[in-house]
Amino acid sequence: MQHYRYRIMPPGTAGVQFYLQVVFGFSVFIFLFFQHPSVSAQALSSGEEIFTQGKCVRCHTIGRGRFVGPDLLGVGERYSRDDLIRWARNPESLYAERKKKPINEGYPPMPPMNLSKADAERVADYLVEYTLPSDLSESGMITGQVRNITTQKPQEGQDVVLISYMGDRKEERHFAKSDSLGAFSFSSLRWDRSYEIMLFHQGVQYVSGKMVFLPGKDEIEVDLPVYDTASSDENVSLRSLNLIVYPDNGGASVNVTSLYVFENSGDTVFTGEQSGEDTKTLAFSIPEEAEDVTFSDSVTPDAAERRGEKLYSKLPFLPGMKRIALGYSLPLSQVRGKFQIGFDYEVADLGVFVRKTELGIRLERPGAVAEEIMIHDEAFLKYELSDLNPGSITVAVSNASFLGGSLSRYLPVILFFVFVAAGVVYFLYGRNRFSSMDSGK
Ligand code: HEC
Repeated sequence: MQHYRYRIMPPGTAGVQFYLQVVFGFSVFIFLFFQHPSVSAQALSSGEEIFTQGKCVRCHTIGRGRFVGPDLLGVGERYSRDDLIRWARNPESLYAERKKKPINEGYPPMPPMNLSKADAERVADYLVEYTLPSDLSESGMITGQVRNITTQKPQEGQDVVLISYMGDRKEERHFAKSDSLGAFSFSSLRWDRSYEIMLFHQGVQYVSGKMVFLPGKDEIEVDLPVYDTASSDENVSLRSLNLIVYPDNGGASVNVTSLYVFENSGDTVFTGEQSGEDTKTLAFSIPEEAEDVTFSDSVTPDAAERRGEKLYSKLPFLPGMKRIALGYSLPLSQVRGKFQIGFDYEVADLGVFVRKTELGIRLERPGAVAEEIMIHDEAFLKYELSDLNPGSITVAVSNASFLGGSLSRYLPVILFFVFVAAGVVYFLYGRNRFSSMDSGK
């Protein structure tokens, strides 16, 4: 039996890391946000693990019929080991060699998976050696239990929806209700689909990750934790906040990115005060002049709402940690040498990273000492502050005058006016002087 321990979460939150990398191309943000890479990720995986950990099972079955790609049973008889390795890494060279793309009729071409050579060898050996278990059932089953973590009881009578997918396309919905033990099951499921579970509890939507039946397995078990909701934020705290201040646009504006780590230490979902459709959970101060605001709690743009100098998240906050990146850009022509970065929660550890440039940006705070550090070949001033109450910090830009940071940008305009002025001066005074010299002769 295959056991899924997916943490059920509101849609979108799983995309945060991806979104971050897309929105903030700067590796410095990624560096700061994920400062502690896990070492275990480098451990070697077996061929079966490589095949099942999402990579190949998303599109292939072994001995269970076609899926997005062909059934890979007996594929070792159709291809040499070397060709299997090429499939697993990048089939383009096979396509070029056979002058055929796709190779199998009725399928799209396979995208490159870019496995390392060692991983591709392991997965090829796994495919060659795989033998079908004899006692495999006709169809698959997904069972599970809905548990209410707040009440510590099984959740009875819960509607559970199973959505089947072919590739990215939603195919069918199946419905079940949990029994007095919170248990539910879906049976007669096709092998050649992936599945997702969705449910609502007290108005909060929970969605599992996509699941597929692994080769040789015919049952998937899922734990579905749900939580009661709370409108008060008494269990919510800000664990750490890192601010990155980064000149942009040729020094005409400054980007501010705030990386928050929040914790909900209770056993309820924080849903905020709700009035009708209007939900406000976490609050964030942003300057009125802020432009290009990005908010990465979710990939859905309507998950946040800006009202004047506040930005509100509208997403429920489950127990556990939550990382949020908030970014905006401030035109220096509007902030006039100084701006405030506000925070709405007590913060135990605040890190401020200011990119060193000719703009001379620094934190304006008595006693704050900066250390100079390099992040990916760029010099930063790093400040560390602790135990701050909700409030704000002041950032000063010593060289933000029109002639300072923006000099190069406005140089042509400035030169133009200098020429015009010179012409006017000549017209008013020079000509008279010359003519008077003439007449005096
Ligand atoms: C996004 C979907 C997708 C993923 C993920 C994927 N494949 Fe494929 N694969 C396909 C498709 C589609 C084909 C058929 C392409 C063609 O015929 O040109 C294919 C073909 C193959 C073939 C040739 C099958 C035959 O009978 O000719 C092999 C071998 C193969 N894939 C191995 C793998 C391995 C190993 C992985 C994981 C490392 C993998 N694939 C991941 C979609 C995928």
